[in-house]
Amino acid sequence: MAEGSCKPHSQRPIIGPSVLASDFSNLASECKSVLAAGADELHLDVMDGHFVPNITFGAPVIASLRKQVPDAFFDCHLMVSKPSQWVADMAKAGVQRYTFHLEAVDTDERDMAGICSLIREHGMQVGLALKPGTPHEAVAPYVDLIDMVLVMTVEPGFGGQSFMADMMPKVLALRTAHPTLDIQVDGGLSPSTIDAAAAAGANLIVAGSAVFKPGVDPSGPIGTMRRSVQRLGQGKADA
Ligand code: DX5
Ligand code: ZN
Repeated sequence: MAEGSCKPHSQRPIIGPSVLASDFSNLASECKSVLAAGADELHLDVMDGHFVPNITFGAPVIASLRKQVPDAFFDCHLMVSKPSQWVADMAKAGVQRYTFHLEAVDTDERDMAGICSLIREHGMQVGLALKPGTPHEAVAPYVDLIDMVLVMTVEPGFGGQSFMADMMPKVLALRTAHPTLDIQVDGGLSPSTIDAAAAAGANLIVAGSAVFKPGVDPSGPIGTMRRSVQRLGQGKADA
């Protein structure tokens, strides 16, 4: 096992293109094209202009998209100041995994169990996201409440930023402590950065600008990233 690499794990690769990098005027066809190219799910970045300095879209857009891609799995990354506020709307819109930021939960009255059970009561998986400055130890008290941890590999708010390789020790620490947890990475992932994330133990891979590239077949980067997780994370030599 190379230094900085995880032990082989059993968590399957899940590739989720971030629609933030798509042509929003053709959102449904953009999504259909990455699904046809092998994407496992769609990563939907909801930003409220308060938790992050950008605004994207909310439940009405997601509900419309759901009608166009009825079978797709919707992985929703909530970069919002009030995570509880949108749970019911997102469930109704067709979201299946609701990922909120630990930093958005008020530390004075942190009710993580309450938020996580609210999400579950609405039939969604629970994801917990960490900004780059939040250490891996912050997850430990809540690990039994969640289905997935998201390690941000850029500061949340914008697509197209550079991958922060210095987040890999955080991924490795989480993978070592939690061999069967789904660990997602988001920000700057591409065929040139995936190996570091896969070796550290990430198995859910979000990629926006590397997948939605005009003139490029998305099956190329999607396949490369999937094989990297199989080879470096799961230890499948023939991947
Ligand atoms: C950033 C978002 C990401 C973003 C990734 O705040 O959470 O999902 O779309 O885009 P790329 O892959 O271009 O860094
Ligand atoms: Zn995201």
